[in-house]
Order: sequence, then C-alpha cells, then structure tokens
Amino acid sequence: MLYWSVSRREGFRGRPLSVPGLFIAGTDTEVGKTHVACLIARQLLQRGIAVGACKPVATGIDASSEDLPPESDPVRLWEAIGRRAEPRRITPQCFRLPAAPPVAAAAQGSEVNEPLLLQAVLWWQRHCEFLLVEGVGGWFSPLSQQMTVADLAVLLGLPVVLVVPDRLGAVSQTLNALHAIARYGPGCPVAAVVLNRIAPSRAETETADNYCQLRAWCPRIPLLRLEHHGQEFSPAADWLAWGR
Ligand SMILES: Nc1ncnc2c1ncn2[C@@H]1O[C@H](COP(=O)(O)OP(=O)(O)OP(=O)(O)O)[C@@H](O)[C@H]1O
Ligand SMILES: [Mg+2]
Repeated sequence: MLYWSVSRREGFRGRPLSVPGLFIAGTDTEVGKTHVACLIARQLLQRGIAVGACKPVATGIDASSEDLPPESDPVRLWEAIGRRAEPRRITPQCFRLPAAPPVAAAAQGSEVNEPLLLQAVLWWQRHCEFLLVEGVGGWFSPLSQQMTVADLAVLLGLPVVLVVPDRLGAVSQTLNALHAIARYGPGCPVAAVVLNRIAPSRAETETADNYCQLRAWCPRIPLLRLEHHGQEFSPAADWLAWGR
C-alpha cells in the first residue's frame, strides 16, 4: 500500500534507482547486516568497483558531535567502501536512543524525515557504480511512522541479501523472512541468504544442521555461510552478478 503511495508522490514509474546494487536485510537487529555489507563492499572494492553504501537512518548514535563514532554503522560502512564520500552521506539521519527510528526520533522531540530516507539512497546513484543499502533491524522493522524496511526494499527494487544468525532457530527465522519477502513477488527478489556465525559455536552439529536443513527447505535460493571472523563467504559469491 505504502509502496504505491510513495511511488505516486515521488513520481516513480518502476524502479527509481539507476545503479545496480543489493539490499542487505536481516531477520533481526544485531545479526551481522553491517558486517556482511562491509565484507561485500571490500570484495567489490578489490575488484576495482566504485562501491557506495547507504543506511538511510540509524539509531543509538549521538549525531551532535562533529564526527560519528568509529564503531557506528555509517563509519564502518564508510571505511569498507574505501572512504568514498562522507559517513553522513551514508546515514544522514541519526537518533540517540537505541530503539526503532520513529521511537528514537520521538524521544528527542523529532520525527524521521521520510522523503530523506529515499533521497539518501538516490544521492548515491551519481556517486558509485554499485550500491549496498542496509536495512534497520528485521524485515518489517519500522523506519518511520509509515514506512517499514520492507517498504523501502520494495520501493528500491534491489535484490535482497538476507542475513541470518547461524544458531538454533535459524531455519524458522529464515523461512519466516523468506515467506514475508515472497509476498512482494518478482519485484523483490532474494539474491542470497547468508548464514552468519556471529559467535563461535559450541555445538558444531547445530550450525552444520542449519545449513543442510535450509538447503533442503529452500533449494533454489543461494545459501552462503560466513564463519566467525571469516573473510570469505562459502561458497564464494559473485555479488556483481546478483545485483541489479
Ligand atoms: N561473522 C562474524 N564474525 C565475527 N563477528 C561478527 C560476525 N558477524 C557479526 N559480527 C559482530 O556482531 C556484532 C553485530 O553485527 P552487526 O553490527 O553487523 O549487526 P547488524 O545486523 O548490522 O546490527 P544493527 O541491527 O544494529 O544494524 C558486531 O559487533 C559484529 O562485528
Ligand atoms: Mg548494522
């Protein structure tokens, strides 16, 4: 519903972005979206691609100081894309409270600037060859009073990389999210699922089983593993080919 109203308001016919890219979504917050986006960015950078990154809104960041904190998502992404542009181009809207953006904005007497969510992404189309857009929280996390991560992903039409923590519960969380994404049809394709080992696993069988289970449950979706502190996806991924 919102997709259509925003499309009309902004005068879009079809896909608004003129550069290829990927939308990095997750099953939840703190599952490794930025970690995975940074690794993809570094791999593309090594191939000589001018990579851009955008996380249009972030919370838990005190934006009043001149420099954003080095551990914040915009700065991590900025480092990974080879310091292209500035961290505030990656994330123009930051709010202090570590909560959903509309909640964090309200806590400081403000609100999320909805048109700026999209404008922040669109700025990059003249400044990169391949764009990585990171979501906030999970697939249906609110970005503003009216817009969820799903709305932004569908609006942009970028193939989705779904990051899932490789731990107990991963199979159900993955299928839940894939089911939700599939609801949007061919305009919102899934490029890959990344089973991300955020923490060193205690039970080796637990995570090995997640991989085998997911291969069986969704055989047509590329499934990648990323080990704890791993530097390569397994199997290796051709991100350029998957972006559009
Ligand atoms: N494969 C991994 N190996 C080691 N550490 C990891 C891995 N994946 C994620 N982490 C760490 O886990 C933490 C959470 O990851 P990250 O910040 O990327 O999550 P996120 O989904 O982007 O969170 P948010 O919802 O806040 O944006 C970070 O400290 C990150 O460095
Ligand atoms: Mg992040």
